[in-house]
Amino acid sequence: MKTLIQNGVAVTEEGALKADMLIEDGKIAAIGSLPPEESAVDALIDAQGCYILPGGIDVHTHLDWNFADLKTADDFATGSKAAAAGGITSIINFTNRREGQSLYGDLMEWKERAKPCNVDYGFHVIINDYNEAMLQDLPKLAEAGVSSIKLFMAYKDVFQVNDGTMYEIMKETGRLGIMTNVHAENGDVIERLIAEHLREGKTSPIYHSLSRPPELEAEAAHRAIAIADLANAPLYIVHVSSALCMDEIAAAKAAGKRVYGETCPQYLALDITDLERQDGSKYICSPPLRERWNQEKLWAGLAGGTLSTIGSDHSPFHYAEKERRGGGDFSKVPNGVPMIEDQYAVVFHHGVMENRISIETFVRITSTNPAKLFGMYPRKGAIAVGSDADLVVMDPNKTRVITQAAQQQNVDYNVFEGKEVRGLIRYVLSRGELIARQGAYVGREGRGEYIHRQPINDKMNV
Ligand code: URP
Ligand code: ZN
Ligand code: ZN
Repeated sequence: MKTLIQNGVAVTEEGALKADMLIEDGKIAAIGSLPPEESAVDALIDAQGCYILPGGIDVHTHLDWNFADLKTADDFATGSKAAAAGGITSIINFTNRREGQSLYGDLMEWKERAKPCNVDYGFHVIINDYNEAMLQDLPKLAEAGVSSIKLFMAYKDVFQVNDGTMYEIMKETGRLGIMTNVHAENGDVIERLIAEHLREGKTSPIYHSLSRPPELEAEAAHRAIAIADLANAPLYIVHVSSALCMDEIAAAKAAGKRVYGETCPQYLALDITDLERQDGSKYICSPPLRERWNQEKLWAGLAGGTLSTIGSDHSPFHYAEKERRGGGDFSKVPNGVPMIEDQYAVVFHHGVMENRISIETFVRITSTNPAKLFGMYPRKGAIAVGSDADLVVMDPNKTRVITQAAQQQNVDYNVFEGKEVRGLIRYVLSRGELIARQGAYVGREGRGEYIHRQPINDKMNV
């Protein structure tokens, strides 16, 4: 199968170039001024006036995922269609621990569960308990193409691990070149703050944010950085929501530590006042939405390299379910927002179109850096001869209005309802196959492939 994309502007982290692109057998075969060879190709895409961008790589998804006794509303089939429609061609999803099962057993179970996935996928294996046998499983995970695990410092009695466990696990992940993802919030103190607020009758959604202050995010990040450094392990701090937390990453980087930060569109485009709305429970996620002034600091962190990536933290629960469980008590509202479908467009709109980041930085944070940090580069995250033809054709001169009615996400609301974004995703290709056209999934069912990832190479200039 041969496809020619003509007349577009191809963008990499290094620059933008008007170029045609030939795709052959799922890979980029040639880039440049290619003679029109309509008769010799099977498909022709006209990208006049459009950017050709590397497909988004979302390394923070919770599809088909159990949060205590609840399951997220999107499974691999629905969530990956939403991802594809929104310009995401690869995801790294979290697993769940199954009691009594090995970590390797968890991976095998999740590889089976992800079979309906429509974009390429990998897994961060979650560890929320600890025994020495787990350490012996880590090399097996690395051999099976898993180059990242996840630890939580919050959600007491559900996912939270203690500092000693973090240290023991990080010694081994560091030795193996496995990246440790950390949810950095101080779960012990948050538990006390939640109890205090509830005792005082402070039960509405705003108190979700006020019981998880940025100081407790920054403190946990500082602790995780110190532990990772002592364990000689690379560290990836997920969903950085506040300037205070980002400052910890900046200081660690300045000291030469191997620490990377991710933020999410919800922290760039929504803020604490959304929790004061009558439907505030829709906006409950952890870490919580912050005061608006944090947003410009986070954008500056992305532009300057303190923050390396965008992840969606897609963790959708129906509004009806949020209200049924937690109407009248913020602490019972399932945590998380739907984000997989609109992340790319929202970051493009507020970032590139509103001049907060360059188009090259957009490529770096949505695709190239995630690929580098999680062992997929240059097969993914690059526009280069030999790379997978995972591409987004984006028209910056067109607009789109985001609505729940038009979305593919399997959830009864959209946090960006009615928002007009500049930048229309015309086509999405995965390994050369057209999988989405103007917001609709048009690919084969279950076409995604497992991504066998490599250990971390810290010299990749992220
Ligand atoms: O609120 C969130 N973020 N829910 C998903 C779990 C997590 O902390 O990433
Ligand atoms: Zn988290
Ligand atoms: Zn998450």
